[in-house]
Amino acid sequence: MMSSFNSIEFKNDKLILINQTKLPLQEEYIKTDKYYRIAEAIENLEVRGAPAIGVAAAYALALAFKHKKYSEKYFDTVYNRLASTRPTAVNLFWALEEMKSVYTQNRESGNLYEILLHKAIEIHQNDIIKCDLMAKNGLKIFDKKSVVLTHCNTGKLATGGNGTAFNVISKGFENGLVSHVYADETRPLLQGSRLTAFELDKAGIPFSIITDSTAAFLMKQKKVDLVIVGSDRIAVNGDAANKIGTYNLAVLCNYHHIPFYIAAPVTTIDKSCKTGDDIKIELRNKSEILEIKGVPVSKGTYDVFSPAFDITPSELIKGIITDSGFYKFPFNFVEI
Ligand code: MRU
Repeated sequence: MMSSFNSIEFKNDKLILINQTKLPLQEEYIKTDKYYRIAEAIENLEVRGAPAIGVAAAYALALAFKHKKYSEKYFDTVYNRLASTRPTAVNLFWALEEMKSVYTQNRESGNLYEILLHKAIEIHQNDIIKCDLMAKNGLKIFDKKSVVLTHCNTGKLATGGNGTAFNVISKGFENGLVSHVYADETRPLLQGSRLTAFELDKAGIPFSIITDSTAAFLMKQKKVDLVIVGSDRIAVNGDAANKIGTYNLAVLCNYHHIPFYIAAPVTTIDKSCKTGDDIKIELRNKSEILEIKGVPVSKGTYDVFSPAFDITPSELIKGIITDSGFYKFPFNFVEI
């Protein structure tokens, strides 16, 4: 099902990003050809979600060479700036490495910008295809018309295509296999109540927003048939990093005998991480907890611990849906 907005678009040599910090109240777009503005957008979560960050970074790296010729020092500056934006989503580093290898092979070419742009467009187009493959491979998780609970935002806003877990839900809905979605609010930045709700609304899928702490109560009442979320980095053994609060849901599913699934492209699997212990977790600024939209809700002097992601141990994950197929626990992604 198509929704009527574009989250990432490349047009007239500029990247156009919907500003996700303003949604759903305002639909504002950032239009830029400056790599450092895109780096800032990734850092500020104006563009967010693992695959979307990768796509945006690929375009940023290409745009950096719009008016510049090959220079090793300049390439390193751009690469390092983009790589320093967010540490957990491996798709960012994957996309930068893909761009780097194209750069290395063509750095002395007269049309370096066009070559890099071609690669960025390919990464974007492939992401669209991967999202659709995930939706297709994920249909099998619905053995009846289901009520689904999800966390954070995994849709068109979070990817270059139609989403990871969100696209599975959306495909399920199109096929009459999803009756209702519970969208976790997703504290502190409200990706669920702002962004997933925005996308569910656009797609015409019936939904209710719940606070993150409501899930257990709903599960106890047998009101949830399955949980599906995305991931920012998956270790070889299937341990998966995703938005803080995901692990809580997986534990709750285990206790209530509810299947818990992850949907992510193969590019989210990081073969250099044997287990979740090897995944670096981003810590966010305390103002995101102590303030809401710049308005203090607690004392600025209080200490805060705010990890952006947690790690769900693989034994709590019933299946991982990827663009290359459906994998059941126990996972071993050495060969993938
Ligand atoms: O901090 P965010 O909003 O970038 O976190 C995003 C998530 O946790 C998503 O669930 C994840 O990127 C996978 S979905 C594409």
